[in-house]
Amino acid sequence: AMMRVRVPATMANIGPGFDCMGMALNLYNELEVEELESGLIIENIGRDAKGLPTDETHLVVRSMQRVFDAVGRKPGGIHLRVTTAIPVSRGLGSSAACIVGGLVAANELIKGNLNRQELLELAVELEGHPDNVAPALLGGIVVSAGEAGDTSYIRFPVPAELQTLTAIPNIELSTSAARQALPKEVSYADAVHNVGRAALLVAALMQENYTVVEKALDDRLHQPYRSRLLPSLDHIYQQSRKKGLKALIISGAGPTLAYLLMPQTRGGQQVFLDLLAETSEEWEVLTLSGDN
Ligand code: HSE
Repeated sequence: AMMRVRVPATMANIGPGFDCMGMALNLYNELEVEELESGLIIENIGRDAKGLPTDETHLVVRSMQRVFDAVGRKPGGIHLRVTTAIPVSRGLGSSAACIVGGLVAANELIKGNLNRQELLELAVELEGHPDNVAPALLGGIVVSAGEAGDTSYIRFPVPAELQTLTAIPNIELSTSAARQALPKEVSYADAVHNVGRAALLVAALMQENYTVVEKALDDRLHQPYRSRLLPSLDHIYQQSRKKGLKALIISGAGPTLAYLLMPQTRGGQQVFLDLLAETSEEWEVLTLSGDN
């Protein structure tokens, strides 16, 4: 029988929490794994499956290998079936899902006995930053930061009344390209702007104070730079600011946009949908809830 692992999509940053906050969503990739005597068989099924590798370069397999190296034990061979629902290179944590899925599956397969913290450290090492992999592994909203090999985190549930109206464009944006668009330095004023809002956002989410959540979402560290990467993104981002649509954020490194649905922002969703329609992009719009 094949062993199954399910991993959620994640929305990193959540506005001001660049590289330190993320939220797990109810959209999942599934891995099925079984040990073979030898060889490597990979089946990619589902969304964007065609572009995924079928050899040891597959990110799931590289992540499994990381566990085999850490534990010092590996199976003779592997049969892996990857069923993807998380769109690739769109800012919804598809690589984090592959990494976390591979680590968890490998750990189960060889009874590696790595604990959550050890799995998290390997995931951060592979991904380079913790904000997607932490909620992919732990669910909920996770605030995380630390040094290599020493990641601290606090996890709490996604508030019941928070959903995301997620708009996924029919265009990919690699995380590395989206990181290259960021400046080497930011002003003291912008840093202070974000520290305050990121701290406020965490406290507001924990207390389910949606009025403050909405006000705390403004960001000056990544969204103003990344929105310029695509004309459609720039149009929606600029217009949303003009129209006072504070609950609109770029999901992760983009290009997916998310309008946060909370009790007091539901009225604004049509404005967001109208802005999407003003662009030449094709948008797939999903209403997603938290995965706790
Ligand atoms: N914090 C990361 C970024 C998330 O914004 O680049 C995407 O992997």
